[in-house]
Amino acid sequence: MTTTYAVLSEGLEKRFGDVHAVRGLDLAVAEGTVCGLLGPNGAGKTTAVRLLTTLLHPDAGSARVAGHDLVREPAEVRRKIGVTGQHASVDGDLTGRQNLRLFARLHRIRDTAARAGELLDRFGLTEAADRMASTYSGGMRRRLDLAASLIRRPDVLFLDEPTTGLDPESRGRIWEEVRALKKEGTTVLLTTQYLEEADRLADDIAVMDRGRIAHTGSPAQLKALIGSYAEVLVAHPDALVKAAGVVDRLTGSEPSLDLDRNTVGAVTTDATLTLPRLVRELDAAGVPLLDASLKPPTLDDVFLRLTGGFPDSDRTDSKELAA
Ligand SMILES: Nc1ncnc2c1ncn2[C@@H]1O[C@H](COP(=O)(O)OP(=O)(O)OP(=O)(O)O)[C@@H](O)[C@H]1O
Ligand SMILES: [Mg+2]
Repeated sequence: MTTTYAVLSEGLEKRFGDVHAVRGLDLAVAEGTVCGLLGPNGAGKTTAVRLLTTLLHPDAGSARVAGHDLVREPAEVRRKIGVTGQHASVDGDLTGRQNLRLFARLHRIRDTAARAGELLDRFGLTEAADRMASTYSGGMRRRLDLAASLIRRPDVLFLDEPTTGLDPESRGRIWEEVRALKKEGTTVLLTTQYLEEADRLADDIAVMDRGRIAHTGSPAQLKALIGSYAEVLVAHPDALVKAAGVVDRLTGSEPSLDLDRNTVGAVTTDATLTLPRLVRELDAAGVPLLDASLKPPTLDDVFLRLTGGFPDSDRTDSKELAA
């Protein structure tokens, strides 16, 4: 079976004066999948989304989005996509219902009342429907935003940091919605700084760094690339060397010994190494064991390794403080 791509871009570039925000974006998102575009502040995620949704004109490169050429057929692309921007696009001086009816009218939907009602219901906003959106909580606003971007059942949905600043419950609701959309066949490209979010939602993750895709793969592949971390705690420092020998043999990498904590640790990319096996082998070697663990890497580890940066390192920018 050949894969159909909902988004396929090649060498997209965008400069803002001296800032080369996107420097050759090659991205492939298979139809019906969720792609997580992960990157630190300023990596170019929003610019990438704005390019792919025709809100910005690329300086170079090309892309097909939802079956149409981005540059030559922007109107067709627009008709098939939905976008939720990083910052709320709903009007605070209108009620939730009025906002959705306005969006529906802009999209030439005939029964604006019915469509608005349907979406308010789906997003749990029926009770608050006739209140000004300015009185909504952050999570409610985000849901209203998301509802607005779905007004015309897009084939491809772009979500720019859909859960930034939300509490865990609101975040969970958005996650559920993304999963539901995927089930309905919508392709979703979401940007995020939350590694956990990409890990949970995305079929594929593209790690973006300084305007380029630094790496792509499934969450599992990205983790496998980094390996897992084995650590054993021995009962007595005398046993450290013996434990290190076993760990070395099993992980295939040089262990580090911590003489204060009585631990030996090593990274391994050997997927056949399991915790029971680690414990068994240490036992067999006569190592007095107090504890052992084999931890899969977090996407934080993946990020550090692949980009040399950390997504939250300069997170207290003015935007965040204002939020
Ligand atoms: N309209 C603009 N004019 C000038 N520079 C811009 C503009 N939009 C973005 N940039 C710059 O382009 C770079 C990429 O910005 P972009 O907003 O795409 O990053 P991002 O990955 O979305 O970051 P964040 O996580 O903070 O949302 C940054 O250096 C930014 O300052
Ligand atoms: Mg952004």
